[in-house]
Amino acid sequence: MIASAAAGVTAVAGAPLNALARTKEIRKNMEPKLVHVPTEADIQKALKTAPKGISEATHKAHLTLWQGYANKTNEIRKALAEMEVDPAKANQIYSQMRALKVNYAFALGGYKNHNVYFDTIGGDGGAPSGDVATLINEAYGSYENWAKDIKTTGIAGRGWAYLAYDRDEQRVFNFIGDAQDTFPQWNCELILALDVYEHAYFLDFQTARAKYIDAWLNCVDWNAVNARLGKAK
Ligand SMILES: [Fe+2]
Repeated sequence: MIASAAAGVTAVAGAPLNALARTKEIRKNMEPKLVHVPTEADIQKALKTAPKGISEATHKAHLTLWQGYANKTNEIRKALAEMEVDPAKANQIYSQMRALKVNYAFALGGYKNHNVYFDTIGGDGGAPSGDVATLINEAYGSYENWAKDIKTTGIAGRGWAYLAYDRDEQRVFNFIGDAQDTFPQWNCELILALDVYEHAYFLDFQTARAKYIDAWLNCVDWNAVNARLGKAK
C-alpha cells in the first residue's frame, strides 16, 4: 500500500492521487481556525472613558474598524486554506501567496494591537502599581518620565505607540508602530497599546493629538497591563 492510500487519501475510483491533487484534498479537509470578531460587549470597559474625554461615539466607530481587521484576518485564513500552494507560482513582485501573506500581516497586526488597545483602556489611569510600575521605573526613572516619553512617542508615530516587554532584557520600552504591521520586535510582548490614528480621537479632539494622549493617560487600565505582563514573562 502506498503512503497516500495508507493515509486514506485516494481518488474516487480508489487509485492514488498525484501529489498536487493529494495536497488539495488534504487542505480542503483542513478548516482554518478563525479569530473572535469583537462586538459591543468587547468595548464596555472602554465606554467608561467618556467622562475623561474619549467619547462613546469614538469607541463605537472604532469598533467597526477593529471588526474589519478581524473579518479580514478570517477571510485571508480561509483564502490561504483554499489556495493552491505551488512554489512555481510564487513571485516577489506579485503572486497570490505574496498578496495574501503581506496583507495577512497587516490584518492580524491590526487585530492584535486593537485587542490590546481595548483591553488596556477604561481604567483609572495615572501612575501604575505592581510589576509594570517597577519595570517602568527601571527603564525610565519615574512614571512622569515614562508618561512624557510615551506622549512624545505617540506624537512622533504615524499609527501607534506601544509599551512592550522585552523578554531578552527583562525590560520595557516604548516603541513606535507607523502602521499595523511595522516595527514589531522579536521576543517582545505588547502590553499596552496607544492608537494614534486620527480615527481614535478626531471626533473628540480634532487634530489635537497631544490632548487625546493626555486623556488616554487618565484612562489606562494598569490592572490589565499587569495581567498582560504576567503572561508575557
Ligand atoms: Fe484604530
